[in-house]
Amino acid sequence: MSLKVTKTREDLRSARWFASEDLRGFGHRSRLMQMGYDAGDWAGKPLIGILSTWSDLNPCHAHFKHRVEDVKRGVLQAGGFPVEMPALALSENFMKPTTMLYRNLLAMETEEQIRAHPVDGVVLMGGCDKTTPGLIMGALSAGVPMIYLPAGPMLRGNYAGQQLGSGSDAWKYWDERRAGTISDKQWAGIEAGIARSYGHCMTMGTASTMTAIADAMGLTLTGVSSIPAPDANHIRMSAQSGRRIVDMVWEDLTPDRIVTPAAVRNAATVAMATGCSTNAVIHLLAMARRAGVALTLDDLDALGRTTPVVANIRPSGKTYLMEDFYYAGGLAALMSQIRERLDLSAMTVSGEPLGAALADAKVYNDDVIRPLSNPIYPEGSLAVLKGNLAPDGAVIKPVACDPRFHVHQGPALVFDSYPDMKAAVEDETLDVTPDHVMVLRNAGPLGGPGMPEWGMLPMPKALLKQGYRDMLRLSDARMSGTSYGACVLHVAPEAHVGGPLALLQNGDIVRIDIPNRRLDMLVDEVELARRRAAWVKPADRFGRGYGWMYASHVSQADKGCDFDYLLPEFGPAAGEPDIF
Ligand code: FES
Repeated sequence: MSLKVTKTREDLRSARWFASEDLRGFGHRSRLMQMGYDAGDWAGKPLIGILSTWSDLNPCHAHFKHRVEDVKRGVLQAGGFPVEMPALALSENFMKPTTMLYRNLLAMETEEQIRAHPVDGVVLMGGCDKTTPGLIMGALSAGVPMIYLPAGPMLRGNYAGQQLGSGSDAWKYWDERRAGTISDKQWAGIEAGIARSYGHCMTMGTASTMTAIADAMGLTLTGVSSIPAPDANHIRMSAQSGRRIVDMVWEDLTPDRIVTPAAVRNAATVAMATGCSTNAVIHLLAMARRAGVALTLDDLDALGRTTPVVANIRPSGKTYLMEDFYYAGGLAALMSQIRERLDLSAMTVSGEPLGAALADAKVYNDDVIRPLSNPIYPEGSLAVLKGNLAPDGAVIKPVACDPRFHVHQGPALVFDSYPDMKAAVEDETLDVTPDHVMVLRNAGPLGGPGMPEWGMLPMPKALLKQGYRDMLRLSDARMSGTSYGACVLHVAPEAHVGGPLALLQNGDIVRIDIPNRRLDMLVDEVELARRRAAWVKPADRFGRGYGWMYASHVSQADKGCDFDYLLPEFGPAAGEPDIF
């Protein structure tokens, strides 16, 4: 089934308010003429906004300057009028304390840019971790037709004949460096070889997970999220996306017709089958809530329990990277491999249901994209734990940690701040055993602030020197999607707001039981009540500005960390702006 054109050029004139024929359009028309355009450029054509998150400080999007021109080419070919609208670049490497603090700022910017400008449809260009959810959350709230253009993964890393994976190998070799097994020269070689081209991180980290989610949700041309950024197919896909958004405007294919409960479930299922980043949990919850779709941590846990991991990509897999995934057929092939678990009737930006879009998808290497009968793990992308340490939930990636920590208990070693923890792990005389549970608190949405990716706490040098490479770690922080290890994350409520994590003390026994989804401290209720009464709320992090607004309105991790006033149930959406 394909969609019919439902708008005429006459309708379009009143659909939004670009260059209307009356006096109000004078300002638009005269100022477009200032730039050398005339009516032949714009009359009767949809105005297509291209929201590009390019910046000199976002290496993952370095090619967007060129790709914008390819999108414009496509828009022009299809009879639209393209305009570039830069948006906050959210560079994972260069923004501090964390891009997560600013994801909602990009979402607000996206929504208001769309609302305040006379655009009829938008192309969203992102890829570096938070840009995907930020752009999509804002565009969902704005409600005009939109298509997502994923940046694509960078090429595989390489050093001395060895393949290197973004993040994952940085963590791995950093531990080796701290253990004294890597020279200065080797370290410099790794530094130069780990990111060899533009494009986002090329493991199945947060960026690849989130673009896969956008793809499976129906918001990209189907399967294009896996195209490596430097591949010529990426250029062609950019022009195709430009052509397609023009047709979407004529079809009035708005995001509410695409992001339905079925589409959200498809996206979550695909995320689990890829062995997704733990960050996907927070962003999926936030995106679903913006679309008015009910999705909870428990729903995600249920999918994590029942969905086999079929993408053999690092860090869940051992060898392959996103480039291998693309050559093996990419996300379309993966979705076709798990088609029995997807709702194939869900609509996509192509104007066709997912099933039709997957008709030609094929797997070319079934070691990279496994059949359901031979997954790399039968389940376990994500598990949601609850208990007296995390009444509202915490998250762990069982496939990325040593199975001996799936059921474990040990004494807590608690740190109240990252600097305290950092100093302790460098201390070779630290009194720590492999059974200890290392804890970092005050690193959540408010405490961090912004819930930084500190959750893969560095292994103590004292244990590294004895040959240990994993231990149970626990925090209210997030973890980079490229990380691995026995790390329990997103403990909610966080310590900064008085969650039970704030009451934990050195030496208390912490018990984890992943099969039964439990996370507890073995401290009796009377003692916990005594500690709760003595707890003093830490000082607020912000006295003014965006940070103050963030702290006043952000939700906890189990709700997606969106601002309360951006949710659809908070109040009616703003209508079109008045024009006088
Ligand atoms: Fe941009 Fe990893 S730094 S995706």
